[in-house]
Amino acid sequence: MAPQKKIDMHKLLRGNIQQLKPYHVMHETPKVKLDANENNWLAGWFHEALTKRIKEIPLHQYPDTECTELRSKLAKLNQVENDQILTGVGSDQIIAWIVQAFVEPGDGVLTMNPTFGMYAINTLMADGSIFEVPLNDCFQFQPEPFLTAIHEEGPKVVFITNPNNPTGGIISRETLNKLLRAIPSDTIIVMDEAYYEFHGESMLDKIDGYPNLIILRTLSKAYGLAGVRAGYAMASVDMIETISCVKPPYHMSSLDQAAALACLDMVPQIKEELNNVIRWREKMSDFFRQLKEKGTDSDLEVFPSAANFVLIRTPQAQRLNATLRKNGISIRGYGTEGPLANCLRITIGTEKENRMLQEIVKKHYE
Ligand SMILES: Cc1ncc(COP(=O)(O)O)c(C=O)c1O
Repeated sequence: MAPQKKIDMHKLLRGNIQQLKPYHVMHETPKVKLDANENNWLAGWFHEALTKRIKEIPLHQYPDTECTELRSKLAKLNQVENDQILTGVGSDQIIAWIVQAFVEPGDGVLTMNPTFGMYAINTLMADGSIFEVPLNDCFQFQPEPFLTAIHEEGPKVVFITNPNNPTGGIISRETLNKLLRAIPSDTIIVMDEAYYEFHGESMLDKIDGYPNLIILRTLSKAYGLAGVRAGYAMASVDMIETISCVKPPYHMSSLDQAAALACLDMVPQIKEELNNVIRWREKMSDFFRQLKEKGTDSDLEVFPSAANFVLIRTPQAQRLNATLRKNGISIRGYGTEGPLANCLRITIGTEKENRMLQEIVKKHYE
């Protein structure tokens, strides 16, 4: 057979996604992983319960596409009706479905910047236009420019992240109510509450009054189940049914569902453990604030966080990140460009991991 002409496969991609690159993560597993907002306090918690459940799973059959038991448990947990819940392979999948369902080429999607990157990526894939309203220099949400963008850009979908990733910042209920009232009823409002459990405030009580409102949650963060990929949306029955139009026949595997159920059997114990994360978030913020106050790094800034991580900004960011990496601790760095220049996001780990990080940081500054 004659040798085939070499083709640049990337050039065959649809024009609007030529700029996309495959999502890569680190190859080596760090000794201490504090880079992805996971919950290390719950490591290994669900294995035994899942092992018991696995024996019951009819692996030769397709999974329950309705995720009946899981939706019922989530409904009970959140005091909503079963048909107000939609589960997905991570809330990532539900974000993708929302964009697929509602965004036509050229439609606007409004969010803030910096925030979770998947809103923009999914919009790009749908050939929509992303409008990002900058947070201020201290990463606080700016209601006035956001309201102006709602009126001027007329977006089809609005993504609001509360608490926000990667800043940890929150938006007051008063401001969220103002936004809800200002957004037209034919605009989809997504409130991404991936970090809700570390904050405790939600707009879930508004879904009955706003049929265009979707609340997103995940089991990846507070519930320690990032490896399983289980997220969910809560909204009006009409909204859930509408998004379900783009849902593939089978999404969460029987194993995913079993693991999520095993996890939800332990909600009271998980809630206890959450207090440790919250306590350590405050300790970690204080630790960095002290470095500033004592003059160890007078340029260091610590941003208030209501999530399971702390964001700091310092001219030392690149060197500090390198020191931590050399010592087996992986955190999330953001390079030297853009709104997150010289920022580091540190996930709250277990007590031992947090202390280890603090010792290395102290030595770095000696
Ligand atoms: C704000 C926010 N939303 C959604 C997600 C996606 O979570 P998952 O797909 O693991 O449920 C993340 C993950 O980091 C996030 O930070």
